[in-house]
Amino acid sequence: MKRENVVGRANVEDTPELEAYYRALEGEELGALWNVANEIEPWYPQPKSVPTLWAWKRIHPLVRKAADLVSAEKAARRVVMLVNPGRKEWSAAAGLLYTGVQVMNPGEFTSAHRHQASALRFVMEGRGAYTVVDGERLEVQKRDFVLTPNGTWHDHGVEADGTQCTWQDGLDIPLMNSLDANFYEVHPKIVQTPSRLSRSNWKKPYSPVFLYKWDDAYKSLKRKKVFDYLNPLTGGPVMPTMGARLELIRSSSAFVRHTGSVIYQVAAGHGWSEIGGKRFEWEEKDIFCVPSWTRYRHGASSEAVLFSFNDLPAIKALSLYREE
Ligand SMILES: [Fe+2]
Repeated sequence: MKRENVVGRANVEDTPELEAYYRALEGEELGALWNVANEIEPWYPQPKSVPTLWAWKRIHPLVRKAADLVSAEKAARRVVMLVNPGRKEWSAAAGLLYTGVQVMNPGEFTSAHRHQASALRFVMEGRGAYTVVDGERLEVQKRDFVLTPNGTWHDHGVEADGTQCTWQDGLDIPLMNSLDANFYEVHPKIVQTPSRLSRSNWKKPYSPVFLYKWDDAYKSLKRKKVFDYLNPLTGGPVMPTMGARLELIRSSSAFVRHTGSVIYQVAAGHGWSEIGGKRFEWEEKDIFCVPSWTRYRHGASSEAVLFSFNDLPAIKALSLYREE
């Protein structure tokens, strides 16, 4: 028990009589709140996630090795996950966010499926990759951003005349599982037959745009320094649970902290971030995370671009957003 000598906080000393009482409570699947209250209701968020950087030069040989060891067909989704040392049991990269790097050889594909978790991807390298979302086939290139919102059928692959492709997947799997709201289905066909998707009278809770091309996003980013990927119909985030943005980093930013987690990929350039008192140097394709309520700032001596995705739409929808 974490005792605190503050009015309004639990501060009960153990006695032999109380210890016997706690054992009796346990025997009936009961417990004394005052023994855990200070832990389960902390003064401010206590994320288990640890600020972590996954350097591309260290992880890419292991990502490529997956393509030699396991077939895309048997793995269903051949992905090397980025696992936060404090959130292993949730397969989370930070907080309620999952991320992984998927590798696909020319001519390979994943079979069509859908899930309750929302997904997004940011293409890291390669030529000839495509993704099919609710029947619509989208050709994706390096640094393109693609959505597969929750409930949409999707399959991905690389053309036979393409090159090995890697992309970062981001999903809210830990959020779905902590809400006990996850579902998964496989499509009756192995891959979808591509067809045009009608967008008239769009009522779905996510963006009707599934593919955001890098060239357009970068042009806008150069003007504004921050580019949020938005649902053009609402001006809000692309999906109800996750948002994404690009940031142009030219010097050091001010420290900030907020509720909600962020996972970054270095889209271009090199620089550094200070996260929770720790300094991380990063370069292109490195991935790193900022846990909730952790002070951070970024810096670069020459121009760098950070791609990131976050759980802020979910946090804000529940009125839980706070920042300093
Ligand atoms: Fe999926």
